[in-house]
Amino acid sequence: MVEALREELADLTASVRAFLEWHAMTGADGLPGDPSALHEALGASSPEGGPPAARRAERGFAGLDAPAPAAPRGGGGAASAPAAQRSAAGASPAHPEQRAAAFSPPHPEQRAAEAQPARAPVQPPRAPEPSPRPAVSAAAAPRAEPAARALAAAQPESPEERVARLSLIAEEVRTCQKCPLHEGRTHTVFSRGNPLSEIVFVGEGPGAEEDQQGEPFVGPAGQLLDKMIAAMGYHRDGVYICNIVKCRPPKNRKPEPAEMAACSPYLASQLALIKPKVIVALGATAVQGLIGTTEGITKLRGTWKLYKGSIPIMPTFHPAYLLRQPGAKREVWSDLKEVMRHLGKSAPDRG
Ligand code: URA
Repeated sequence: MVEALREELADLTASVRAFLEWHAMTGADGLPGDPSALHEALGASSPEGGPPAARRAERGFAGLDAPAPAAPRGGGGAASAPAAQRSAAGASPAHPEQRAAAFSPPHPEQRAAEAQPARAPVQPPRAPEPSPRPAVSAAAAPRAEPAARALAAAQPESPEERVARLSLIAEEVRTCQKCPLHEGRTHTVFSRGNPLSEIVFVGEGPGAEEDQQGEPFVGPAGQLLDKMIAAMGYHRDGVYICNIVKCRPPKNRKPEPAEMAACSPYLASQLALIKPKVIVALGATAVQGLIGTTEGITKLRGTWKLYKGSIPIMPTFHPAYLLRQPGAKREVWSDLKEVMRHLGKSAPDRG
């Protein structure tokens, strides 16, 4: 008992020290004016809560090794289950059988990487980010629609009301014409999963399958994302998943800054209502849409950022990138473990 407490305290001290070292080295990069806000945001929701032994027993997500073709934004892959089957928001963590089905034994490379001690990632010093927001012309600047404006005014507290407001915004998005992306869409793609989740995954924008089905991450990248989520001990329907833009950019190109800006009030409303403890930003465009940085994802990943001065963001590689570069799964798993540590969760044992 005393030993366990001592171990817990040592872990806590190590992670606080790692954070402070990291913060001293990186300065204000990507942080709010008051750096203590990030510290507070990271400390407030979870003082490294999971049991230490379990925290060290994390094993990676080798099931992600499934071969897959290059698939920008997940388009063109195997068909997924009908939307209705997936609509019920699942409780987290997942049923052990579901987890077991999703994974195979860890890849040796991952095992080697994971043998290293778990601690907050420390990045080398970097120059300050050039500009806090992508440049957008005045004409393209977003104007808040009625639902988004109402949300900004008063945030409901009851879960029922928050869910109801999210439905209103989804309704508003369905008829949105604020940017040219609406011209090519089949469906708007608002979200999937649990709107009361403590964790939100934000991607770039819908691909071909998402546009067809009206749900985010249902193509090959989505299947990989589901495995990442299961590796963290959640069910795919137990977390909330959405995108920076709600309509498919033509030919799966990246959304333009003006398109991202036009859509951003919707995402802001979603996040304000969900109030997650952590946002996982999938890929550079997601981080750019959330905090405005134009820094590359290779530099950003694994380093905590803050959304609107309060919600911690963990940037990581997009699952579509992992389909092309499976070697990068090691880094992604390290980022996801950092998220789990922050949430006080231990990784499930997948034998
Ligand atoms: N990639 C994304 O960024 N979002 C999706 O919804 C699907 C693929």
